[in-house]
Amino acid sequence: MYVCICNAVTDSAIRQAVSEGARSLRDLSAQTGCSTQCGRCVHVARDVLDEALSEIGSAHSRVELEIVASS
Ligand code: FES
Repeated sequence: MYVCICNAVTDSAIRQAVSEGARSLRDLSAQTGCSTQCGRCVHVARDVLDEALSEIGSAHSRVELEIVASS
């Protein structure tokens, strides 16, 4: 789904940016160009960013639990 029409940024591109280190809307804008023109996409971009960050946070927690469980 397109999140930012001005810069043709999709939700997949936002998730990819998070997997490559984006941790804030500023990072996301720098990496993808999202939200750098009209700004109408800011709220949806932030929602997708937060969701992607939450998912990697959960993934990191699972890995930590597995490491603790195996030691
Ligand atoms: S829709 Fe993202 S800057 Fe315009």
